[in-house]
Amino acid sequence: MSLESPVLEIDPLLDDRKNRIIVCCGSGGVGKTTTAAALGVRAAERGRTAVVLTIDPARRLAQSMGLTELDNTPREVAGIDRSAGGSLHAMMLDMKRTFDEVVVQHSDPERARAILENPFYQSLSAGFAGTQEYMAMEKLGQLRAQDAWDLIIVDTPPSRSALDFLDAPKRLGSFLDGRFIKLLMAPAKVGGRAGVKFLNIGMSMMTGTLNKVMGASLLRDIQTFVAAMDTMFGGFRTRADATYRLLQAPGTAFLVVAAPERDALREAAYFVERLADEDMPLAGLVLNRVHGSGAAQLTAERALAAAEELEDWAADEAEGSGESAESAGPGESGGSAGGGPGGSDVALTGKNDDRRIVDHGAGHADSRQDRPDDAGTERLAAGLLRLHAERMQVVARERRTRDRFVSVHPEVPMIEVTALPGDVHDLEGLRAIGEELAEGQPAAA
Ligand SMILES: Nc1ncnc2c1ncn2[C@@H]1O[C@H](COP(=O)(O)OP(=O)(O)OP(=O)(O)O)[C@@H](O)[C@H]1O
Ligand SMILES: [Mg+2]
Repeated sequence: MSLESPVLEIDPLLDDRKNRIIVCCGSGGVGKTTTAAALGVRAAERGRTAVVLTIDPARRLAQSMGLTELDNTPREVAGIDRSAGGSLHAMMLDMKRTFDEVVVQHSDPERARAILENPFYQSLSAGFAGTQEYMAMEKLGQLRAQDAWDLIIVDTPPSRSALDFLDAPKRLGSFLDGRFIKLLMAPAKVGGRAGVKFLNIGMSMMTGTLNKVMGASLLRDIQTFVAAMDTMFGGFRTRADATYRLLQAPGTAFLVVAAPERDALREAAYFVERLADEDMPLAGLVLNRVHGSGAAQLTAERALAAAEELEDWAADEAEGSGESAESAGPGESGGSAGGGPGGSDVALTGKNDDRRIVDHGAGHADSRQDRPDDAGTERLAAGLLRLHAERMQVVARERRTRDRFVSVHPEVPMIEVTALPGDVHDLEGLRAIGEELAEGQPAAA
């Protein structure tokens, strides 16, 4: 018997106007971007003025939402049903540009230009681990301050670990406040030859490699950079703190997205605990890409047993009629229940051997029309039963993985979304996901 969690109710979450920010987080590839986009579509069609901040959406999904360029500004998504009075804007995060915007916003034009043109800044802004996470939060702060939307749905970067996302602002803050930068700053403040000399010693120890890469102008660049960034360090820390508070505030809801796989759910469990530690409000867990079956009443064991029986009949038939399995022509139709094991030498014991099954099907196209119950049909049916059995084993494994999570966190509301047959790359697909998020029941089950 499987364990039950409280149901995560998505529509009340989307409809409650007090909810202003929904953050979709989770480990890599589990469906964060898809879930964020699907929630955006559903929220808008239920009347919210929503904006979705996506990060690296798949190309086709981006196109279907009208996101053809990284311009860091939300654009209205066409094709949304606005009859409930809502609308949807979407944007893709451009990390570098967001960093640039922060610089421009917090320094005078001359200083901003000096920073933006500085090679050290250019490598820092693009390459620092966690910058993307930090910039997503920075952008969230900007969108919130604009106050043009009553619901902001935030996708999070494809981090190695879901936790990076929470740690990044602090990490970037401590990097900018850190010893390395302080050391670099010292000579810039002191200035003059003595300063350069001092910096030289520090630099030769710490950034020999950088020096080689960047050449002789490195020192000058770093000094300019550090002098120009000096006034901004406090700002970064302050804003990281402000975003942190925004994430803790009422009106923010976190959705942890996971796939029904061991690693993803383990990561989700850590994340759930971490959110609690940080006083960040968890709305629940979206278990995405769950496999189901329209014929769940037929267990894997029974399907396998039936498949074996059918294969035995087919083998008997082929033998009884003196035909080889490959050319089973007209013969006794049907078989007696519990057909003997005598035909095991030609029985199809290969699990999941699609090719063989298909060959049979094709080879018997004609005879099957006349004799729907001949050996070919039986083998085909046996193949389908084996496929069904495999599917049921996947279903069972996913259920066990899910139950393990529930036994550790029985309090976390959960909703399951089935694995759709193809990628989710258009509004229709997003609506289907939204439907499942809200109903909690796959259409097929
Ligand atoms: N329920 C689903 N059924 C079928 N395909 C899905 C489902 N959810 C997501 N996908 C597909 O899985 C792939 C990964 O989804 P998505 O990009 O949303 O994951 P992600 O968590 O944002 O990944 P990343 O960590 O790389 O950002 C996409 O191709 C998407 O179309
Ligand atoms: Mg993504």
